[in-house]
Amino acid sequence: MKLLIKNIKSLVQTETQAQKKVVGSAMKQLSCIGDAWLAIEDDKIAGFGKMEDWEGISDWTNLEVIDASDKLVMPSWCDSHTHLVYAGSREQEFIARIKGKSYEEIAAAGGGILNSAKLLEETSEDELVAGALIRLNEIMHQGTGAVEIKSGYGLSLEAELKMLRVIKRLKTLSPLTIKSTFLGAHAIPAAYRGRKEAYIDLLINEMMPRIAEENLAEYCDVFCENNYFTPEETIRILQAGKKHGMTPKVHAEQLSNYGGVLAGVKCGAISVDHLEYVGDTEIKALLDSSTMPTILPGAAFFLSLPPPPARKMMDAGLALAVASDFNPGSSPSGNMNLMIAICCIQYKMTPEEAINAATINSAYAMDLSETHGSICVGKQANVFITKEIPGYGFIPYSFGSNFVERVILNGKVVKD
Ligand code: NIG
Ligand code: FE
Repeated sequence: MKLLIKNIKSLVQTETQAQKKVVGSAMKQLSCIGDAWLAIEDDKIAGFGKMEDWEGISDWTNLEVIDASDKLVMPSWCDSHTHLVYAGSREQEFIARIKGKSYEEIAAAGGGILNSAKLLEETSEDELVAGALIRLNEIMHQGTGAVEIKSGYGLSLEAELKMLRVIKRLKTLSPLTIKSTFLGAHAIPAAYRGRKEAYIDLLINEMMPRIAEENLAEYCDVFCENNYFTPEETIRILQAGKKHGMTPKVHAEQLSNYGGVLAGVKCGAISVDHLEYVGDTEIKALLDSSTMPTILPGAAFFLSLPPPPARKMMDAGLALAVASDFNPGSSPSGNMNLMIAICCIQYKMTPEEAINAATINSAYAMDLSETHGSICVGKQANVFITKEIPGYGFIPYSFGSNFVERVILNGKVVKD
């Protein structure tokens, strides 16, 4: 099967050689080709160039041609941080917050993550798959082509395995590329209140071996925060995860400057995520590491948190990734177009920086930058065609709209 997209107004984020990530001031650059063509063969990008250099079609067998006049072609968004397998919803907590309660107060009263854990316990694996497929379909229509999904609303051996088995099934059911993360250390479950040590033992001694045995997770994540897991506990859990083949990730510096970034860097985390309370010490540590700092504008926006110092991090020479954090408590949206808009509007990132953050750098944060995150020959053919828009800056500018017209994943048109 071959696909040719011709007369493309602008082919965005092209690379002649695949880069692992884009760092610091290089994030200001976004390589584009005007009046371009893109060829796809089977599930891979086969070639691209300017229309004037196009040699025409010699073999029409199994070839589909799409005319993209006045439209852009972009690499699919990569969303390296979500919790999109969940049960029910939490708009009652949202309303309580509108009336003045804080996220922390709601959590301390048994709401928050524990609320989602209770709902998930009552929901079957099949129902969870069905709910998650609806959300995957929604983000696919908004341009996302690769996504990481975490457990962490189970908080017991059986329920964590249930979540991770759901993610495993989603990998076969959805055309999106999916990565799986074990986040048993998301909260201390009600049954272990006052016995955190015993819960950590359960995570390490019982959950991890089973997860490794069934090959259910590529990553291990910890919510490193006051009233959740300390930096020391985070390191212990992540080191144990590494022994079971899971690469570390951390929920870090979201509600306070608590030490999650340093813990993550120490363990060689692939990414540290949130970062609202990052300071100079964390920036310095990240500069000496291969860890991808990842901001989650949906959660900061929805919880009215202070903005992460995105500008300062990039100006210091750091790479930056952006992800949605799609979850029922702190970011009930997985719309990467909106995440990019918040990056530009509130964090003063340029559209180029935001697009690099949402493609190649977010791909890096889930070990996908060799195959995803840019238009490069040999990469997975995961792209979208926009509606007729003036340029890529129009996407964050017209926030709240969806300009994704057609989606191509693994070389196949999945949205027409
Ligand atoms: O990434 N910070 C911790 N975990 C999630 C929120 C989970 C929830 O409230 O359900 C987050 O924001
Ligand atoms: Fe999260």
